[in-house]
Amino acid sequence: MILYFSGTGNCLAIARQIASATNDQVLPLTEAVRQNLTSERRIGLVYPSYDFNTPPAVRNLVPRLKISADAYVFIIIPCGAQAGNSIWSVRRQLREKGIEVSYSHKIRVPDNSAIVFGRNPNDQSWKFTRFADRLQTIIADVQSERKALHFAWFSPLGWLMGTERMEQWMLRTFRPAVNETKCIGCGICSRVCPMRNITLSDREEPTADHSQLAAIGPHCTACLACLHACPQQAIEVGAKPSPKAHQYRHPDIKLKDLSR
Ligand SMILES: Cc1cc2nc3c(=O)[nH]c(=O)nc-3n(C[C@H](O)[C@H](O)[C@H](O)COP(=O)(O)O)c2cc1C
Ligand code: SF4
Ligand code: SF4
Repeated sequence: MILYFSGTGNCLAIARQIASATNDQVLPLTEAVRQNLTSERRIGLVYPSYDFNTPPAVRNLVPRLKISADAYVFIIIPCGAQAGNSIWSVRRQLREKGIEVSYSHKIRVPDNSAIVFGRNPNDQSWKFTRFADRLQTIIADVQSERKALHFAWFSPLGWLMGTERMEQWMLRTFRPAVNETKCIGCGICSRVCPMRNITLSDREEPTADHSQLAAIGPHCTACLACLHACPQQAIEVGAKPSPKAHQYRHPDIKLKDLSR
């Protein structure tokens, strides 16, 4: 079973690619915590790196997983460049539950947070050309249940960026907001939010075409799924609109794959 957390599809696409080669199934981490996975003899975790660390949502979900201490557990981090402490810290969390991580790796993919800094993640598609060899290595290693930890060492920069104060800063920096004048109430953001953190409610002053409005709740983990998926570019970080051309989704992943 391969468990994933994904905002814009990189982690889902890689989880699927590994699963199809290893004959495994994929399951969102948010669903996995509701299941008893102790009979699974191989467990993969595929999640992004956020600010050199594990995404807060993943960090909160991992302790709730019910998996066997005898399972072959592997972690793959599809990230822009730096995994930081994202493997190290989950390895530590699992160890506290008596579970050892046998294998880990990172793989470079377009950085979906580039949009917040006015850059286009789609300009990073060159990363996919170098991607295939690394993915084949990972698949072969997982198939043979190889024991080898890559990018699992402690990162002082990751530690610094992972302090509570820095994490709050990160969540503030990347916190999206709905531009009410642009929102048409289509509900796409609500369906793609892995945290179920976006609700639709009736507009106080409905127009002839639009009666609903999206609202972002308090459980945001800064995955940017909503910002990248909004057809009106109505979701903004720092009140800065992002152009349609900068919106990103992994090329193999459709909106419905990310939708609940
Ligand atoms: C808030 C935020 C912070 C990020 N920080 C990092 C980082 O520190 N290092 C890195 O290599 N990539 C970073 N990224 C990029 C993601 O790890 C990368 O795009 C990942 O593949 C996204 O996965 P997804 O498409 O499954 O959501 C960050 C992305 C976001 C949204
Ligand atoms: S996806 Fe955009 S337009 Fe649709 S409800 Fe969300 S914010 Fe509004
Ligand atoms: S509100 Fe947007 S950025 Fe926050 S968790 Fe949901 S989809 Fe991700």
